[in-house]
Amino acid sequence: MTPGSADTLTAVINLDLPGPTISRHIYGHFAEHLGRCIYGGFYVGEDSEIPNEGGIRLDVVDALRALRIPNLRWPGGCFADEYHWRDGVGPREERARTVNSHWGDVVEDNSFGTHEFMQLCELLGAEPYINGNVGSGTVREMSEWVEYLTRADDSPMAALRRANGRDEPWQLSFFGIGNEAWGCGGNMTAPQYTHLARQYATYVRNHGEKPVYKIAAGANVDDYAWTESLMKSLSGLGGAHAQHKHVQGLSLHYYTHSGPWEDKGEATRFDDEQYYVTMKRAQRMGELVRGHAAVMDSYDPERTVGLIIDEWGTWWNVEEGTNPGFLYQQNTLRDALVASVHFDIFHAFADRVAMANIAQTVNVLQAMILTDPDTGALVLTPSYHVFEMNTGHHDAASLDVGIKGEIPTREVEGAELPLFSTSASVNGDTALISLSNLDAETARTVVLDLRGRTVTGHSARVLTAPTLHTHNTPEQPDAVAPVAHTGVREHSNGLEVDLPAHSYVTVQLQLV
Ligand code: AHR
Repeated sequence: MTPGSADTLTAVINLDLPGPTISRHIYGHFAEHLGRCIYGGFYVGEDSEIPNEGGIRLDVVDALRALRIPNLRWPGGCFADEYHWRDGVGPREERARTVNSHWGDVVEDNSFGTHEFMQLCELLGAEPYINGNVGSGTVREMSEWVEYLTRADDSPMAALRRANGRDEPWQLSFFGIGNEAWGCGGNMTAPQYTHLARQYATYVRNHGEKPVYKIAAGANVDDYAWTESLMKSLSGLGGAHAQHKHVQGLSLHYYTHSGPWEDKGEATRFDDEQYYVTMKRAQRMGELVRGHAAVMDSYDPERTVGLIIDEWGTWWNVEEGTNPGFLYQQNTLRDALVASVHFDIFHAFADRVAMANIAQTVNVLQAMILTDPDTGALVLTPSYHVFEMNTGHHDAASLDVGIKGEIPTREVEGAELPLFSTSASVNGDTALISLSNLDAETARTVVLDLRGRTVTGHSARVLTAPTLHTHNTPEQPDAVAPVAHTGVREHSNGLEVDLPAHSYVTVQLQLV
């Protein structure tokens, strides 16, 4: 296909037909006590030479504020089901030392606990999503944590919070009832967890004005029976209104890797075939969301229960010479395209996907930020830039994108992989169109057939690099970074956009 040739793709967008709202919360994040995510990543302690507030790195905060990070999930992951919140409150020097048995078997000094996390959320302007402990905690412990966080009067837990230096209650937006109960969260069966979740969720009380949005630990990948068990038993009780149900959302976890679980593939060393397999597996998220949404639809046709994809992203073999339990990996242009494809899927299911959290924000798996353990230098990853380029989709109305012409495909693992992905949204007098060219070698041209409103101006940005392996380092922090895109021309139907090979392009429109 040559730019402007007869086989040019046309994307038809009716700018005056807004669909469901894309919740900003699908751009959520995840910070676990794992490797250098919290310690060294978010938190360096008050005595660090790195500029900090209360021990929290201010360069990390600044970088994430530019993403308008809407929510942050903490303290895990697997760690959540062995975390006892009382270990992490009170004077730091008196806090319990515990063992992080999931991640590196290291000693946890609990210097980052509830108060530090809530301060981090305040600095970020992000809503807190705290994940409770069902696997090894008690109902009372969970209930008291929520009371500690959110109660205003002189109840025992509110008084304890005050004694620990915080007068006002915090607003707790989201609360997880355990994590991966089918695995590290207790190795439970679906009925076993479902019963427990009903019990635990009952005691997550609303002490403040804003009700807590409770999230049940949902399915692994394509375990539709798990979703069915939760929907049958958890979502329908208590009346039709979402806030009267036992839970308001249930989670789904799915990671992308190019190899089997035992050898997931390398972050920076891969061939074209492994790249395409990665893209195919990233696009599988669409099949999974469709499948889980179909089960949910049969119990909740009004779509009041949210599908919360609170762990997603690439998971590669750890970088050579790093602790295998710390899950530290580099991040290339390939990871950025994995992210852009996921967002197109989440936008398409905006009426069911209420939130998503990439795993994880700093120094772990598909991170936004990598920090050097020796120098502290901070690097923004290619994935970071996709999140930044997409901020215009936050809380915007999704738009259908109809395609005229044949989307080019490639056979991968016995099925056709579409090499083009797109989504669009409108918010008042602006619209944002996302375009991913997944072809490793061939540039494309796409005509944007813009209907229904008058376009008075446009601007475009492109994220690409000489190779799919290109990544950012302290020496070359902008090897992959967005630049203004000059390959956009007026067209009789709207605009014509050139998409370089392996690139992500966003086009912003001004509308009247
Ligand atoms: O994100 C890393 C781990 O992946 C999480 O702790 C766990 O929930 C999942 O298996």
